[in-house]
Order: sequence, then structure tokens, then C-alpha cells
Amino acid sequence: MDSIQLNIKHLAGLISEEEILLKSELASSANKALYDRTREGSDFLGWVELPSSITEENIREIEDSATILRTHCDAVVVIGIGGSYLGARAVIDALFSSFDWLQEKDKRKNPVILYAGNNIGEDYLCELMSFLEDREFGIINISKSGTTTEPAIAFRLLKDLLEKKVGTEETKNRIVAITDESKGALRTLAVSEGYKTFVIPDNVGGRFSVLTPVGLLPIAVAGINIRKLIQGAVEIEKGTSSTTSFDYNLPAIYAVIRNELYKRGKKIEILANYHPKLHFLAEWWKQLFGESEGKENLGIFPAAVDFTTDLHSMGQWIQEGERTIFETVISVKQPENKVKIPRDDRDLDGLNYLEGKRVDEVNKMAELGTRIAHVDGGVPNILIEIPELNEKYMGQLIYFFEKACGISGYILGINPFNQPGVEAYKKNMFALLEKPGFEDATRAIKKRI
Ligand code: PA5
Repeated sequence: MDSIQLNIKHLAGLISEEEILLKSELASSANKALYDRTREGSDFLGWVELPSSITEENIREIEDSATILRTHCDAVVVIGIGGSYLGARAVIDALFSSFDWLQEKDKRKNPVILYAGNNIGEDYLCELMSFLEDREFGIINISKSGTTTEPAIAFRLLKDLLEKKVGTEETKNRIVAITDESKGALRTLAVSEGYKTFVIPDNVGGRFSVLTPVGLLPIAVAGINIRKLIQGAVEIEKGTSSTTSFDYNLPAIYAVIRNELYKRGKKIEILANYHPKLHFLAEWWKQLFGESEGKENLGIFPAAVDFTTDLHSMGQWIQEGERTIFETVISVKQPENKVKIPRDDRDLDGLNYLEGKRVDEVNKMAELGTRIAHVDGGVPNILIEIPELNEKYMGQLIYFFEKACGISGYILGINPFNQPGVEAYKKNMFALLEKPGFEDATRAIKKRI
């Protein structure tokens, strides 16, 4: 197999193959609507044919910019929140050894990638700044709107630190801004300071932007091959076109099943992985589906667990708690034999029965045993199999989930490409902070506290 696969044999008897096929037209017409732009959110469908439209010139520009940052910096801080950092972090964490960054500087080939602007934690920012004080660092500042508070605060602090450290001229080599072509404070600031900039296309929403410079630049700076990532995404784009038959359209099948499970009372989807490196892929997936589908009092709640770690915390709930869940497992084949369990003559830990087995073989048996147990416990299981963790399959997975999300949202009957609900907290926060322009809201909220 040289592509991700979908195994739907273990739906705990809740949906038959015939019932899935009955929905094929619904799914195919939802997929077609993503190309014809005939449904809600049609202004935000730039991601649908994005992978195949990336040019050699686009890639070179990103690689050149990455080279400049890699040359000047020992650490690069990716500033952004939500769709403006989760995709990059998902790929970087999946493909990069976290221990590489613990090596001495001269033994490392790549800069340390750090993240900021995805919270407003004062301790976090304080600790980050004190770490950066003695380091040659750069910044990739990402915000589509260019006005989001969390990244704006982080950028103001880190820009100030950088200018004090290396001066305003050298700062220009070390800051890249990725934002809207013309709107927003970040665009104004970047132009006025003379920073290198990349554009987030108007018709690509934040959570669908990982294959634009938003994701590609940080990923390239980390030393990961973005060409292979894009190639993987193109493969799934081509294999899920508006004319692809439903039987071969894996994202469409996944979208149908999750909607059918939802209708049968399975309100929570748990994305499970068996590799700590995939933790942030799940964070990205949660945002993709949560922000896209959770509206109009509808939508599956996307949850995630890292197994086997969370089998010792959430395992009990999944096995025997309220039966409102289904599980989607990401299973990685891992063909390369890296670590085997050695023999111990005294066998005091009783582990000699595992002698000579790969650690991954033990992990796989934990995975299989858990899947069977959960299905027996009434948790329908969808299995997504990946041949190995590399750039190409990460690219495939990203596009698979993006396409599934678009189709699934249309099947659900909502607009998957807006996020009106995110504004509610911002309005209250601005009112409480007495931001100019929010005077009425400030008066109203003060009466409530
Ligand atoms: O998917 C989305 O649109 C959001 O999660 C945004 O990416 C997030 O809110 C950050 O917005 P911005 O890039 O405008 O700072």
C-alpha cells in the first residue's frame, strides 16, 4: 500500500455496508459542491484545489525564506493561534525528533522551533523570553486577520526583545510575516517595518491553511521536505475529485459514517493515536472539525487521546462510560525496525516473553487488543492506516481530513467554513479590557459582574 487506507469493518454492528452506500449520492453531491461552489461558504474553498496549484516558484520562495531563517537563527518562534499554527506543529512534531533539539547547538542541523501567541500565559511568555535572551532567534508571525490579540501580544514582546538584541536592521532578516494581502494591522506593520511577507489567500480559512505558507514555511524551517508533503496532498486531492466514485473516495466514506453514527446517538468522536508524535495532529484535527461543524446546536464533539498513555486515564471511560462515543484510530505501520526488547538472564521483571520483539510489535498488540475491547464495549471503530510516518503520508492525511471535513459539514447541513461563535469571547474580553470602540459592550458587561 502506498496510500493511507480506511478500514470500516468494526462499526459495532451499528451501520451496514448497504446503509453506507445508500448515502453515497448525498456524499458525492456534497463533494461536488466543493468544486462547483454551490453551497454555503463557497468563498472559502480555495483549499480544495490548492495542493495541485502550488507552483515551483511558490515552493522556491518558501524554501529561500526558510534558508535565510535557518542561516541566521538557532531558534525560530512561530507566532500564531488556531489554524495559524496547529497544522505546522502537527507536521513538525510528527516528523521531527524532539530530542534533536536537546542536542548541543553544533551537533544540530536544524533550528529549534518554538511556539508563541497561542495562549496569553504570562509565565509562558516570561520563560520563553528568558530562554531567547541568549539565543540567535527569529520569528514567523502568522495571522490571517492580522488583528488577533494572542499573537499580537506575543509579537509585540518578541519583536521588542529581538530589536534590543540585534538592532532593527538585522531584525528585518529574522522576521517573516504571513497575513492577508492588504488588510489588518500585521500587514500594515510588516510593510512599514520592511519585513519579508507571504500572503494567506483570501479564500482559504485558517484551519484549512496548512498547505499555504502558514504551514509550509515553519515546516521548511524545521528542515522537513515540503515538496513531498505537497506531493502526498496532491495524491489525495486527485483521488477524491468531483468525479471520483464514492466507493473510492475515502474522505467521503469517512464523512458518511461519522454522520450516520452521529444520527445514532454517537455524539463524540475520539481520535486515538498510538504515537506521542501524533499528539498535535489530533489537536489540529480537533480544531478542523470542532470549528467547522460545531454550530447551529449541531456537530460531533471532537475529542482526542494518546494511547497507550491515556488508556491509564481515559481507558475506563471509553470502555464502560456513557455509550455516546465512537473511535477513529490512526494506525502507523512503522516498517523500520528501530528498537528490540533485549533478553535479561535473571528476568526479574518477567519480560523475557517479549525478548527479541520490536517495541512497535508490543504497541501494535496493545492497539489491536484495545480496538477489539472497545468494539466489544459498544464503541464503533473506524481505522485509518498509514504506511509510515513521513512527509508524503502526512500530506495525504492532511488533505484527507480537510476533504472529509468539507463533505461532512455539508452532509450535516451547516456552513463548515465560518466560525461566528468564536467572536463571543472576544467581544466580552475587549469590553472588559475597555478597548476603544467597545464602550457600549463595556457598560453592559460591567452590570453583570
Ligand atoms: O480556522 C480559523 O479560522 C481560526 O482558528 C484562526 O486560524 C485563528 O482564530 C487565528 O486567526 P488569525 O489567523 O486571523 O489570527
